[in-house]
Amino acid sequence: MSQASEPVGMVRAVVLRTASPLRKLGRSVRRSARSGRRRWLFFRKQPARGKLRILLGLAALEDRPMAARNELWPMPAALGAQHVRRARLFEHRVALLEMFPTGAVAAEMGCHKGNFSAHILDVTAPRKLHLIDYEAAFVAEVRERYAKEIEAGVVEVHHGDTVASVDALPPGSLDWAYIDGDHSYRGAKRDLAAAHRAVKPDGWIGLNDYVFFNSEDMNKYGVVEAVHEFCLEHDWEILGFGLAGRGQHDVLLRRRGAGEGSDD
Ligand SMILES: C[S@@+](CC[C@H](N)C(=O)[O-])C[C@H]1O[C@@H](n2cnc3c(N)ncnc32)[C@H](O)[C@@H]1O
Repeated sequence: MSQASEPVGMVRAVVLRTASPLRKLGRSVRRSARSGRRRWLFFRKQPARGKLRILLGLAALEDRPMAARNELWPMPAALGAQHVRRARLFEHRVALLEMFPTGAVAAEMGCHKGNFSAHILDVTAPRKLHLIDYEAAFVAEVRERYAKEIEAGVVEVHHGDTVASVDALPPGSLDWAYIDGDHSYRGAKRDLAAAHRAVKPDGWIGLNDYVFFNSEDMNKYGVVEAVHEFCLEHDWEILGFGLAGRGQHDVLLRRRGAGEGSDD
């Protein structure tokens, strides 16, 4: 290297050595800005109670001793071996749909934008599917998305509370119901009670978000407690279990022993 080009080479080496970490830093700043924005958008969408829970929730929980946390959230009632004797495990909830009867009259309680409804229609080919949600925007979207099925009389969309909508159907008129609305303990209990009234005595009830605490929205869910209490009170069992990556598993319930020996 000539004497003249020595400083140029040194500058080049310094630039090259610092460029790569700078690029990495830039990428990581952009990534955290994106995830911060996502968290902020999620936070903004929450009702006041949800915001407060997010702000205080985990920090407050971590500050509590374990005994206090256990008192706050007691252990769900335990199921017996008889409640899982026939249970089959599926890799995800769409695969679990294989256990739901086809050609049925069914309801999805909490249909959101109708994403899972598409799988229900595809896998179980229901004779009639009631889609229920209390959010006007979702209902409008679902009505547009399934206009053809509505026209054909296969889909009926209900704008309203899950319990009120299901209670408006004749008792025992559904072959099965899929619950995916309010996942709090109170919400899951009332949805289960309504589904129990609406399905036939040998019908099926599926539930999403069988999880004790949801790490996605940082909320305590009450589906596990509600499901166990329901099975113990009404002598139902878990027939199927669909895995979900973040623990928001699905369960399929049926009256204990119903359909045993038959292939329904
Ligand atoms: C998790 S999303 C449902 C997702 C949908 N089942 C899917 O898998 O694509 C829950 C939905 O339930 C609705 N919801 C919650 N509580 C409800 C209630 N009490 N009555 C009617 N809809 C309710 C919400 O508006 C939301 O769209």
